[in-house]
Amino acid sequence: KQQKQALKDEIKQLLKQHNAQLVAHYYVDDELQALAEETGGVVADSLEMANFGAQSAADVLVVCGVRFMGETAKMLSPEKTVLMPDLEATCSLDVGCPAKEFAEFCAQHPEHTVVVYANTSAEVKAIADWVVTSGNALQIVRHLKEKGEKIIWAPDRHLGNWIEKETGIEMIRWQGHCIVHDEFKSFELDELCTKHPQAKVLVHPESPASVVDQADVVGSTKVLLNAVQTMPDKEFIVATDYNIFYKMQQLAPEKQLYVAPTGGHGATCKSCAHCPWMAMNGLENLRDCLRNMAPEIVLDEEVRKKALNSVQRMLEFSR
Ligand code: 13P
Ligand code: SF4
Repeated sequence: KQQKQALKDEIKQLLKQHNAQLVAHYYVDDELQALAEETGGVVADSLEMANFGAQSAADVLVVCGVRFMGETAKMLSPEKTVLMPDLEATCSLDVGCPAKEFAEFCAQHPEHTVVVYANTSAEVKAIADWVVTSGNALQIVRHLKEKGEKIIWAPDRHLGNWIEKETGIEMIRWQGHCIVHDEFKSFELDELCTKHPQAKVLVHPESPASVVDQADVVGSTKVLLNAVQTMPDKEFIVATDYNIFYKMQQLAPEKQLYVAPTGGHGATCKSCAHCPWMAMNGLENLRDCLRNMAPEIVLDEEVRKKALNSVQRMLEFSR
């Protein structure tokens, strides 16, 4: 415990020394979320993380999350140093959509507007016309539909399916998936709902369609958090990374939360409902990256500029 406190103290001192701020996602360890809050940084969904980084007056941003979040921060703030505790912290959606293959895929469907999820590499964003997050995907796709545009969507197949259902548009879809959300099981969720009949079901749209169909609320991490805070219900079954419980309990301590089942026989396998890449962010490697001012996100300038266009289009649309 003392060792942990010493680590936290050193991190705080290094943040001051380098005029640095922490930009953390809701899925990272509680301790990192608490540190970000205490030190004037932010804990947020991927859309707010991007906005915060762009508006921050810090010289250094330390992104506690996964690599695409660090890359987006760097795209928006090329003059800032963007560090991450571990650059190997990636995302199965990013890994499953390599830029070269994606460029070939897009070339097969010319005259389509290319819309990609934020959970992609800078190179993939550079190919795209629009970037969206689960926080603004529906509004942006509805807007494109109204303009009569034909859409290529990548990479998450479940999110793509949800967008199609909600907007009534058909898209040419890449077939990627999130290894965490893909594991939520509808049959077991049904059983858990029977056990807790009063509970409302909150689902991130990266989950399979059968799970999304059972939801009372579908949305980004931010939307799910708001639901716990603002809905009068006392119990919630949550189908997303369980580390979001830190923030949910902080904002609504009187609410009872259950992790949606990822395993058979109604088991709520906590370790399954947690992103292994988010889990690569810890106190020690956070301290080390601030000590060493590395590892740092570096982007090819041409890629950065192209990717920035599609990210900025999204940010301007969401304002
Ligand atoms: P949000 O955009 O909802 O924060 O989600 C990011 C993510 O990686 C979900 O798995
Ligand atoms: Fe990617 Fe899924 Fe992890 Fe989110 S939870 S960062 S989508 S692997």
